[in-house]
Amino acid sequence: VCMACVVVLVVDQYLIHLQLSDANLMDVSLRFRREMDKGLGRDTNPTAALKMLPTFVRSTPDGTEKGHFLALDLGGTHFRVLLVKVSCNGQQNVEMESQIYAIPEEIMRGTGSELFDHIADCLANFLDKLGIKEKKLPLGFCFSFPCQQTKLDESILVSWTKGFTASGVVGNDVVAMLRRAIQKRGDFDIDIVAVINDTVGTMMTCGYEDHHCEIGLIVGTGTNACYMEEVRNMELVDEDEGRMCVNMEWGAFGDDGALDDLRTVFDREIDAGSLNPGGQLFEKMISGFYMGELVRLILVNMAKEQMIFQGQVTPGLLTRGSFNTGHVSAIEDDRDNAGLLAAETLLRGLGLSPSTEDCVATQRVCQVVSTRSAHLCAASLVSVLRQIRDNKAAEKLRTTIGVDGSVYKNHPQFARKLHKMVRRLAPDCDVRFLSSGDGSGKGAAMVTAVAYRLAMQHAE
Ligand code: GLC
Repeated sequence: VCMACVVVLVVDQYLIHLQLSDANLMDVSLRFRREMDKGLGRDTNPTAALKMLPTFVRSTPDGTEKGHFLALDLGGTHFRVLLVKVSCNGQQNVEMESQIYAIPEEIMRGTGSELFDHIADCLANFLDKLGIKEKKLPLGFCFSFPCQQTKLDESILVSWTKGFTASGVVGNDVVAMLRRAIQKRGDFDIDIVAVINDTVGTMMTCGYEDHHCEIGLIVGTGTNACYMEEVRNMELVDEDEGRMCVNMEWGAFGDDGALDDLRTVFDREIDAGSLNPGGQLFEKMISGFYMGELVRLILVNMAKEQMIFQGQVTPGLLTRGSFNTGHVSAIEDDRDNAGLLAAETLLRGLGLSPSTEDCVATQRVCQVVSTRSAHLCAASLVSVLRQIRDNKAAEKLRTTIGVDGSVYKNHPQFARKLHKMVRRLAPDCDVRFLSSGDGSGKGAAMVTAVAYRLAMQHAE
């Protein structure tokens, strides 16, 4: 028997509860579908874990939009400011200029007014650089957190997720906060037209290329999805006609205990050490903000049980955040020995002296964690596909999912595993996955462009 095979078997046995069977996943999908219904119902929404938030985005671009738009993108790996130029002579064409700005941790976790002052500073810097401070351009704000909306340009933060905790923002309209920060400076003016979630931005961006696109998925720092729902099913919206995009905020699935039987000791440990204990429990099993940490916690436990590293635990290994999702991606690189080499380098950096077996074990832990992540995403996506198929009363659904996010894009196996499991669990759906280039920022500009076009049509 080969050494590596034995190591893999031992790790698999240790992590047996992280390996979900197809039956487990179908069961997760069923529970998810029930939670969707709960979130859509007027009476059940207040206690539902899935908030199923109306976005007031009703249509994807029709190709006649044009103009210059600004966009802000906050809530992913980077904070960005963009200028998006949409032209339309026969064929629509999009050009972008963008700049990434840092948001220091003390600003993410300080006060809300400091955060919005910082955003306004970055915006001013960007406008200065492009020499367009005098123009009052329409702006779309991609703000990737759960928000209650009653219209496109008002968005009340329900709760922070991922790494943010800035005080005084929850319960407030982020558009008003941004306007105030800009007015306070007084050196430029803009017209904030729309606030959207990154999932919506991704769906819009992909919808521009593929008119079948009706789902937006993010697997990055956080995870979430949106889709086009029939308004008649959305009891929180007082209308009956047409479709509207719903921001599911699926990261909160399980916050009411619905996943407790599938959550492991490691999931509980991640949650207990997080900035928002008890919240975003599904997200904590899936997204990039937690994946590396999950691997680290497992390695610590295995070392303590003398299974790896000859029982050694170093201060480096015990440091929260010393293992991130980029490391997981590097360790799962299956070209030659690249992954095992990456494991060795990282473990040495943490003060360990890993044997070959230790590197193989570490790689296997990464594989088990990222595979569970991809499969859980597949399970919830399948519920969304079923919902859309039932809405259309279609025998076979042909649809496109727009996808973005660092895990989906950078992890070497994630996308393939996700696609494969979706197709296995939903053989009755013909699904195309479309990876969006610059989904969120461009999407915010596209929503703004559509809103602008509609406003112009009304004015005429
Ligand atoms: C978190 C946010 C959600 C966002 C997702 C992906 O789950 O709450 O709004 O879409 O991260 O960035």
